[in-house]
Amino acid sequence: MALKALWGGRFEQFMNDEMQAFGASLPVDRRLWREDIAGSKAHARMLANQGIITRSDNEAIQEGLDAIAHDIEEGRLDFELSSEDIHMALEQELTRRIGEPGKKLHTGRSRNDQVVTDFRLYCVSAADELGEELEGLQRSIVAVAEAHLDTILPGYTHLQKAQPVLFAQHLLVWQAMLARDRERFAAARAAADASPLGAAALAGTPHAIDREDTASALGFSRVIPNSMDAVSDRDFACDFIYAAAMGMLHLSRICEELILWSTEEFGFITLSDEYTTGSSIMPQKKNADLAELTRGKTGRVYGDLLSILTTLKSLPLAYNKDLQEDKEGLFDAHDTLAACLAAVRGMIDTMSINTERMFEAAQGGYMAATDLADWLAAHDVAFRDAHEIVGRVVLYAEQHQKRLDELTLDELRQFSEAFVPEALEVLDIRNVVAARTSLGGTARKEVEAQLRAVKTRSF
Ligand code: ARG
Repeated sequence: MALKALWGGRFEQFMNDEMQAFGASLPVDRRLWREDIAGSKAHARMLANQGIITRSDNEAIQEGLDAIAHDIEEGRLDFELSSEDIHMALEQELTRRIGEPGKKLHTGRSRNDQVVTDFRLYCVSAADELGEELEGLQRSIVAVAEAHLDTILPGYTHLQKAQPVLFAQHLLVWQAMLARDRERFAAARAAADASPLGAAALAGTPHAIDREDTASALGFSRVIPNSMDAVSDRDFACDFIYAAAMGMLHLSRICEELILWSTEEFGFITLSDEYTTGSSIMPQKKNADLAELTRGKTGRVYGDLLSILTTLKSLPLAYNKDLQEDKEGLFDAHDTLAACLAAVRGMIDTMSINTERMFEAAQGGYMAATDLADWLAAHDVAFRDAHEIVGRVVLYAEQHQKRLDELTLDELRQFSEAFVPEALEVLDIRNVVAARTSLGGTARKEVEAQLRAVKTRSF
């Protein structure tokens, strides 16, 4: 049933029912109720301090809003769906409860500054929360890395075996991706951390409000200086969703490896039953569904990013109703990333690592070939010639179905007289790893240094 809206005075007819539903954002923005109540409380207190409303009006507003918050928390309050958005729903409920003072709350503000105040507060705390969840996943990854400073697996380029690496080195890449995601969320938080409250509809207000006061009461570190910018800027939301999209991108890369590694072909890890599913027809199946789902959900978060960018494109100043479309995608990006972080963390905490299988895989693929060429290059053979010689050695080994470390000195010497017994040592895959002592390389010392750096930075 249509109700006359808060702007009823200028209107002679009720809004069309279907259009009211079309124009409403309450189903989405009801999620901002905490932020909206906090914003209203700060605003009312400031109005009283400035002598714009009386102290007793302010007290009634504070108590009324606290009681509403309590009832929502307890699940005792359901908003009237006739309200367009959470801002109107809460103001109407307040006035229903406390009468006259409730009608004074909206002095010197507009929903245009109110909505973006709420949204910015939400982004600040969501960025903090996701930062902590990212850190949690980093900790899980680093714990596995610390336990695998001697585990060797193949490193790949083009998904072909390339050079053996420590498992810890590989895992520390994942942690580095997440460290960058945290930096992006910190930047998104800083962008959101500015108060638009008091900009009113777009041009400010003739009331003697104190914007600094409401900003600091709400925990914002600064005030947005231009009232029109305050109500029309949504860059902070783009920053947030971009950070989430990058987080999903990284999770999708991690998940892709978890999926590959848990196949019989790789066999590097076994995901726990808790984090896998079976098949309704094939009794033998154990699928890395949750990793696949995380990979798949990356697409929707990219969609959220494209959606807000497109909504903002070409918007004239200042507020336009298009901006109501800013929240749903951001909430979705937040929820999706949070759920996927929990899923990936669970998978990593509970997976078992098949170190023998990793080592066995690292024996294949002729991965010591570069080291053998380097050895020749260090013994008076030009590297280009050494590359050619070792290429022929690999072809020979392949044709004779031997690994490089199974070749005898005599066999090697068919290809170059430069080979002496000591050359055979470089063919041991453990030595290949240990030799990579350049900064950031995969030798144990270097990987330990990375681990130490991660821990001193506190991730
Ligand atoms: N529901 C609106 C939104 O989410 C609130 C601001 C509405 N302002 C207006 N003038 N219609 O953007």
